[in-house]
Amino acid sequence: MNVVLIGMMGSGKSVVGQLLAKKLKWKFYDSDTLIEQQEKTSIASIFESKGEKHFRMLEKRMICRLTKKNRVIIATGGGAPCFHKNWEALSKNGFVIWLKANPKTLFRRLKKEAPETRPLLKGNAFTLKCISDLLRKRELYYGRADLILKTDHLTPKEIAKRIMELDKKGVAI
Ligand code: S3P
Repeated sequence: MNVVLIGMMGSGKSVVGQLLAKKLKWKFYDSDTLIEQQEKTSIASIFESKGEKHFRMLEKRMICRLTKKNRVIIATGGGAPCFHKNWEALSKNGFVIWLKANPKTLFRRLKKEAPETRPLLKGNAFTLKCISDLLRKRELYYGRADLILKTDHLTPKEIAKRIMELDKKGVAI
């Protein structure tokens, strides 16, 4: 069984994933980072040169590869659970955790995190409304998670701690 972190851009999947991996002594895999290493370029430039459809195909293959592993932490890109059959793959051997945050929190966090690296929120698209609209479309998918953690008032350390407490209680991980 793996632990899979899903949620919008800026929800803290990568930072929380690394903290969890350290605590559990499991390996951590960040789907976007691996795609960037494989393609030797950034996600932003993949979107720009080959388009979102191509990125989603690379993402699907990466998810398929990662979900064959066991006892690892996987951080997905924000859109991953909403495309192709990624949801089925991720949940089959994974305890899926949605790091939920409201649009205002995401907007605030992303402002600090170089939003230009997020092609879907590039330029004029980096608005509270765009984030809200995207989140609304995706909630249908994210909402199927095994665990939904509201993260608005939590630091990555606190989020990781909450997840570890579940592990101690023997909840599914
Ligand atoms: C995306 C989120 C990004 C990255 C790509 C598309 C999305 O990952 O996969 O820019 O569709 O929400 P993060 O959620 O890690 O920012």
